[in-house]
Amino acid sequence: MESAESVRGEDAAPAGLSRRRLLGTAGAAGAAGLVVGGGAGAGVARAVRDEPVALSTVGSAYVPFEGARQAGIVGPAQAVGHLVAFDLVPGADRKAAAALLRRWSDAVRTMTRPGTQPGTQPGTRTGTSPGGRDALPSSYDDQIAYDAGPSSLTVTFGFGRSFFGRTGLTGRLPGALAPLPDFAGDALDPKRSNGDLWVQIGADDALVAFHALRVLQKAARDTAGVRWQMNGFNRTPGATAHPMTGRNLMGQIDGTNNPKPTDADFDQRIFVPAGGSADSGSPAWMAGGSYAVVRRIRMLLDSWDHLSVARQEKVIGRRKSDGAPLSGGTETTPVDLAKVGADGALAVAGDAHVRVAAPASNGGAAMLRRAFSYHDGIGTDGTPDAGLLFVAWQADPLKGFVPVQRKLDGGDGLSRFLRHEASGLFAVPGGCGPGEYVGQRLLEG
Ligand code: HEM
Repeated sequence: MESAESVRGEDAAPAGLSRRRLLGTAGAAGAAGLVVGGGAGAGVARAVRDEPVALSTVGSAYVPFEGARQAGIVGPAQAVGHLVAFDLVPGADRKAAAALLRRWSDAVRTMTRPGTQPGTQPGTRTGTSPGGRDALPSSYDDQIAYDAGPSSLTVTFGFGRSFFGRTGLTGRLPGALAPLPDFAGDALDPKRSNGDLWVQIGADDALVAFHALRVLQKAARDTAGVRWQMNGFNRTPGATAHPMTGRNLMGQIDGTNNPKPTDADFDQRIFVPAGGSADSGSPAWMAGGSYAVVRRIRMLLDSWDHLSVARQEKVIGRRKSDGAPLSGGTETTPVDLAKVGADGALAVAGDAHVRVAAPASNGGAAMLRRAFSYHDGIGTDGTPDAGLLFVAWQADPLKGFVPVQRKLDGGDGLSRFLRHEASGLFAVPGGCGPGEYVGQRLLEG
């Protein structure tokens, strides 16, 4: 399958790039012998030598923006995420929206490109490769991300249901964008839900992610304003001894039983096929696209923490330490939902999250979960305002999120410790090629 994800750009730092250039103008800071490594008090001192060095693996890793599919869906979720919804300003029409998507796409194409990111301060460009962040219009040049490589930056664009009415495109509204049903356990804040346009930013460096957000906000000026923004995070690459499935803020290993790109039915489950799909109500302009369900799910951590680890494991159906199913084996052993323990009880309880959510319990329904954790301090109730920015990807929400959430809503032992506080459903079109912009087939087709 076509996947634009996870191209690691270890070779992305131009050969011959000097540490002097990586730092910007060494002379400005006092020439050779300069002590660096986080500034005064950081406790790490490295002498500067004017010899070629590569960017760190984290900084030089890059994910191409162009491709049949948008980036930011299949590859691993980055260490930092911003989920942002924009509403078009009154009077912004289809033409204005098209111009905005072109500005956004051009900016992201530039920001995600490997090349001259290190040392982009004026006068210190390497001149070895065109493009890179220094090719951004000067009005976007806030220097926030100077010195860093692309750091696996991805930006993914989607359209909410309201976009189509605002731009006179209701004839092209996908049937699959029908509003999500109400769920009994929902406590949704409409101001932090839905929106005309949705942007998912992910990067392994916080400044790179913030810079991308600022650039997109500036490019949107006069056309669209931020409706809501949610900031999330995941484990930083390299923090563990070897790559592992990440943990969420309840401490569980989360993401194990996701559909895998190597599964025979992966593409069919996650992406709209070429030509669209009459079955799911996906027009041809959605070919190569996917639908993102976004839920801000607050974790009631103080209540959860009162449970013993054994009780917590029963609620999920997997061991907390290593993610192994309670039916036995290791993290990757398939869950045996039929297994009965020595005590005559089901090894994976009847209301365990993995049982209730499993495709086997939902007529085969499946989605790709690619979440960020969030922590916004202490809520008005005095408990942590923390949880999961749950993002689920599927070719058809009616064959993915909707039936599973219907089942979980009430039947899931975990739901007592969660509160769904915001929700959105977005049509995320396929990617774009050189000279194109995301959404062009919708806006100009
Ligand atoms: C804060 C909320 C949630 C937490 C903490 C959570 C946690 C987990 C954990 C720890 C697993 C086991 C590891 C894995 O396979 O990834 C899991 C599996 C799963 N979860 Fe969730 N989950 C949450 C919300 C949801 C929601 C809202 C849905 C869908 C509507 C969902 C669908 C699934 C599915 C489909 C699986 C895989 C089940 C299987 O086939 O084994 N989860 N979740």
